[in-house]
Amino acid sequence: MKYKNYENVYEMDHPLIKHKISLLRDKNTGTQEFRKLVEEIAALEGFIALRDLPLKDVEIETPIETCMTPMLDGKKLAIVPILRAGLGMVNGITTLVPSSKVGHVGLYRDPETHEPHEYYCKLPDPIDQRLCVVLDPMLATGGSAIAAVDFIKKHGCKKIKFMCIIAAPEGIEKLAEAHPDIEIYIGNVDRELNDNAYICPGLGDAGDRIFGTK
Ligand code: PRP
Ligand code: URA
Repeated sequence: MKYKNYENVYEMDHPLIKHKISLLRDKNTGTQEFRKLVEEIAALEGFIALRDLPLKDVEIETPIETCMTPMLDGKKLAIVPILRAGLGMVNGITTLVPSSKVGHVGLYRDPETHEPHEYYCKLPDPIDQRLCVVLDPMLATGGSAIAAVDFIKKHGCKKIKFMCIIAAPEGIEKLAEAHPDIEIYIGNVDRELNDNAYICPGLGDAGDRIFGTK
C-alpha cells in the first residue's frame, strides 16, 4: 500500500474503495450518487488513515464491573477541507470522529495558469496541538494541496495528513517534495495530467460534480 519508494505516501488497495472510485469516474453518475460515493470513500480512507490515533485508558463502569478501557486521547482532530470539492469528504470523516473540529481553506485554480488562489481561511484555534486532516478529492498539479498545507503550517500545525481520492503522479511528487513531513493518503493513482492539468482518466471536475454546477 506504500506508493513507490515514498515513506509517507499510501495508495489504498481496498476493493470497496476501488469499486466506488470506478462508479465515481462514470460520467453517467449523477450529483446525488456522486456526493454519496465521495462521502463513503472518505470514510473508508479515513478508517485507514486514522489507524494510529493515540489512545489512553480511562475508567468505565460497565453493568458488570469497573474497568480501564481505551478511548481517543489528545486534542480534538481538525478536519480541513479545501473548498469547494473537499467539503464533499467532510461528513465521511465526522461520521468516524464526531468530535472533530472543522476548518476551511478556500482555494481555486486559475483556469489559465492552474496556479492556486486563496480566498478564505478559518482554522480551529489553537491548531498547534492538533492532528490536522486536509481533504481534497483531487491532487492534480499539487498546487492547491501545497498551498493549503503551507497555510496550515504557518498557523502552527505540526502534524498533518492529506487525504485525496484521485491523484496524478506529477502532483504526488510535488506535494511529497514540498512537504516531506506529512502523510499522504490516496484512493487511486491515475496515469497522468492532460494539457489542461486535468487528471486522466480521472473523474472530471470534482467540485462541479459534487455541487451540480457548470
Ligand atoms: C480542484 C480540486 C483541487 C484542485 C486540484 O479545485 O478540487 O482543489 O482543483 O488541482 P491542483 O492539484 O492542480 O491544484 P478547483 O480549483 O477546481 O476548485 P473547486 O473545488 O472550487 O471546484
Ligand atoms: N481538479 C479537478 O476537479 N479535476 C481534475 O482532474 C483536476 C483538478
